[in-house]
Amino acid sequence: MAVVPTTALIPVPAKLTPRSGSFALATTTSIVAGDDLRAQAELLRDQLRPASGYPLLIAASANGSRITLALDRSLANLGDEGYRLTVHAEGVAIRAPQPAGILHGSHTLRQLLSPEIFRRGRVDGVSWTIPAVEIEDRPRFGWRGSHLDVGRHFMPKEFVLKHIDLLALHKFNVFHWHLTEDQGWRIEIKKYPKLTAVGAFRKDSMTAPRTNDPALRKFAGRPHGGFYTQDDVREVVRYAAERGITVVPEIEMPGHAMAAIAAYPELGNTGKPIEVLTTWGITDHVLAVTDNVLRFFEDVLEEVLELFPSKFIHVGGDECPKTEWRQTPSAQERMKKEGLRDEDELQSWFIRHFDSWLAKRGRRLVGWDEILEGGLAPGATVMSWRGEEGGIAAAKAGHDVVMAPQKPTYLDHSQTELPVEPPGIGGHNSLEDVYAYEPVPKALSAEAAKHVLGSQGQIWTEYMPDPKRVEYMAWPRLAALAEVLWSPRETRDLAGFKSRLETHLKRLAILDVNYRGRLNPPD
Ligand code: ACM
Repeated sequence: MAVVPTTALIPVPAKLTPRSGSFALATTTSIVAGDDLRAQAELLRDQLRPASGYPLLIAASANGSRITLALDRSLANLGDEGYRLTVHAEGVAIRAPQPAGILHGSHTLRQLLSPEIFRRGRVDGVSWTIPAVEIEDRPRFGWRGSHLDVGRHFMPKEFVLKHIDLLALHKFNVFHWHLTEDQGWRIEIKKYPKLTAVGAFRKDSMTAPRTNDPALRKFAGRPHGGFYTQDDVREVVRYAAERGITVVPEIEMPGHAMAAIAAYPELGNTGKPIEVLTTWGITDHVLAVTDNVLRFFEDVLEEVLELFPSKFIHVGGDECPKTEWRQTPSAQERMKKEGLRDEDELQSWFIRHFDSWLAKRGRRLVGWDEILEGGLAPGATVMSWRGEEGGIAAAKAGHDVVMAPQKPTYLDHSQTELPVEPPGIGGHNSLEDVYAYEPVPKALSAEAAKHVLGSQGQIWTEYMPDPKRVEYMAWPRLAALAEVLWSPRETRDLAGFKSRLETHLKRLAILDVNYRGRLNPPD
């Protein structure tokens, strides 16, 4: 079997120098690692063992055929996630200043082998040869994320874990888990069991065609629901951490909270019972701005902080109509009492409360760019989704930002304009659009640009009822985004990416990823 060209790496490394010769994985190959890298060595062994059939025993030292993993403080210039990978005739060495770099280097190593290495049963007749090479690599951005909305459609834990494996393969480091919505509350909160007992289930779900006309709406005609227990959440968070990925939870407030209000009507402005939403869009039913609501969501966040070690906690903040606050005496009294000019300032007051509440606990608030309206909370990080403007304004004001503009990072948009595509939202973002994306807006000075932490792909699941559909929308566009976020700006090369993608798609196919074009070749 032909040796896979070293150029089939996604994301492409910062620096790659081919050397002469090669190294072949063999039944005698061992993995050399100290106790400090035991977990990383076991992961690598578990990735290479099934297809090769080789034992790949882990040892503190070895003289023969070997893959060496070592922490090397002298490589500190490679940062928290960088690594150096060397392949020569006797073996492979992955050195990094931090364990995360060893993980990223391991994924590069996997990609240097035949795609067959991704199989989970032994493959006979394959040469596990790796061309000699020296790679020095580090990411361009520190926030390389994938967002997944499990509110509109619940996604099984097994799929979430599979998605995390794929993120790790592409050197992403943030999984933004959008856990609460109008249409479903997906995380168990011990103090408030009805959030999931009631809020995790709805009677029906709107389906395509996408329409704003109630008369034309169609429904699936069956209930939908599901949630993650706290043990499930712990499992996902730990699994991701072991793979170098931070899980950033999102608990939406004060909008997109109808499922919570359905569970506890006193959280709403009217106090009247409502149901978990079965349609999509924006609703006027938002949280009340009472002390009781603040206490309730503090209680929720107390449990969330226990489960998620992430420095960043996402509180949503988007698409919160002010209609009910205008009509509700307690909201109007709150505005008077706090000296707030309008309902936008009332929303800012609400977000500021949680900004300082989180800051007191050593965490940082992140929210969608609507949190700029009415004044930005002092510690807030802004996720800019309605274009780049919110991110630009926030970065200029000295706030950190994550760029998530709909064009082109919303992966619920179709991948082409063709009518054969599954229903998307908001037009289309092609693979090429994603690959051409530049996360640092031109409008920013070099100083302000330092506030751009990175970017992420958004997967909103209104029209993605199951994992297969999510994968169709996510891949291969997330592979393009991975390269945008990891690789140096000057290595960007669409033709080169597409050529490497051909090999990469073989890997994704073996991993049973339902990427666009796998079953029906695209245009
Ligand atoms: C959003 O798409 N409402 C953040």
